[in-house]
Amino acid sequence: MKVVVVGTGFVGLPHAAVLSEYGHEVYANDIDEARIAAYQTGDRDEIERYVNEPGLAAIIEETMDRYLFFTTDLSQVIEGTDLIFLCLPTPPKRDGSTDLSMYMNAAHGLADLLAQRKQKNRVVLVNKSTVPIGTARLLQQIMTEHGVENFGVASNPEFLAQGNAVDGSRRPDRVVIGADTQADFEILRRVYSQFVNHVRIRYLETTPETAEAIKYMANTLLLTYISFWNGVGARLGETNANIRMEDLKIGVTSDDRISTWGSYVSNGAGGSCFGKDIQSLIYQLNRAGRSTDLLQAVYNINEYQKTYLVDRAVYEAGFNFNHKKVALMGLAFKKRTNDMRDSAALKVVESLLARGVTEIRAYDPLAMHDAQNYWFSPDKNHLFERITYHDTARAALQGSDAVYISTDWEEFRGLATTIANTVQPPYLIMDGRRMLPDYRDLVSRGYEYLPVGGTLLKPPPAGEAASHNGQQSTIAKQATN
Ligand code: UGA
Repeated sequence: MKVVVVGTGFVGLPHAAVLSEYGHEVYANDIDEARIAAYQTGDRDEIERYVNEPGLAAIIEETMDRYLFFTTDLSQVIEGTDLIFLCLPTPPKRDGSTDLSMYMNAAHGLADLLAQRKQKNRVVLVNKSTVPIGTARLLQQIMTEHGVENFGVASNPEFLAQGNAVDGSRRPDRVVIGADTQADFEILRRVYSQFVNHVRIRYLETTPETAEAIKYMANTLLLTYISFWNGVGARLGETNANIRMEDLKIGVTSDDRISTWGSYVSNGAGGSCFGKDIQSLIYQLNRAGRSTDLLQAVYNINEYQKTYLVDRAVYEAGFNFNHKKVALMGLAFKKRTNDMRDSAALKVVESLLARGVTEIRAYDPLAMHDAQNYWFSPDKNHLFERITYHDTARAALQGSDAVYISTDWEEFRGLATTIANTVQPPYLIMDGRRMLPDYRDLVSRGYEYLPVGGTLLKPPPAGEAASHNGQQSTIAKQATN
């Protein structure tokens, strides 16, 4: 089939690449000329500067100029197209509503072009990025107003998680199609023929509004899981030293009706989707005059969680951040990505600076470049000049009085040895991801350990053996398993 993908970011580029892999003729379009030029080089580094997803560059290399083409000019590729996927950014506005300006620009541009096409084959416009409920209907209106003939609109929400986009596109757990006519369902079945009747993939056909609502419900339920664990599970572990967090997780999630996903307690969920989508859903329901108490609580718990460990360092460990240097391990919102949008680290930095920290010594295996761009931009507070950037965890730790672990990068699991070899007690370790299996060793050597979901561990008074806090020994046991 002839397919056009409008917008080549995190959603559009993997989607275009995987469709081309299945032998469709795919034209990936973006208004950003630098981006398209970078993709056209076929060079891995160039591509990954824009979208860094495992396996993506390899597909592009394989299919480019055979099945996959890049263009900034839609007018050249619109004739004879069967499907147009809209994969445009839909960022949040201050009031939580969704900024549809980029989407609208693209929709009107497309409508103009489609109204003038010579071949009048049926074309389906498909919303792939997360858009407010009712947007497919709006798109239909725009097309009709411009006089476009023989078109359909559909909603086909994207459920990919960053870092897993290629695998997720090749083997989704479900494909959700919202459309109005059998003709449109049929066109989508042809483009997704590898998923229809697949034994392990749910292929659901429904109305556009249901499909749009599924995406918001799905993301909000996932964030509810996380906020339940951070807001209840972690709080229990932080209150009672005999509650073993890892056992709590196993005991609760062993119920087949409950998923283990979301039960990894953390310093809050970040990323470009959860915060934006729950806020948008709150806005949409509020506008309809409906109560949003639960959603608001879920959102607030998640935001509060991002700096809670810094507060605990002050109130539980009695740590005074004023004039101190703090090493910050991890800036990205999760491992395997350089994306810092809504990352807990952003809030942690603000909280530390507000508490008078003189230097934040940052390290992240992937996000250093993005971090510098973010905090160096001219409109940013001059306090961000207190952030220094280091090439290794060891370099960032040097000369610090405390460390905060913010991202779940696997390499941080070995941080205990680096800490012991680089900085001497008294020293506070704030672990926002429960990443240190060897924390007991550190505590016995005089370091203080404050994990999310666990009580403060202080070094034993001289002469006594290390404390055998039950909850913590389970982590050690799991790490050795
Ligand atoms: C999320 C959803 O998981 C996808 O299903 C959805 O398609 C996507 O948003 C989207 O709307 O585009 P993503 O933002 O890539 O995907 O990241 P997740 O892997 O879900 O992680 C989000 C945050 O939750 C991260 O900061 C992660 O570290 C945190 N998290 C995750 C926890 O704190 N605890 C957990 O148990 C799991």
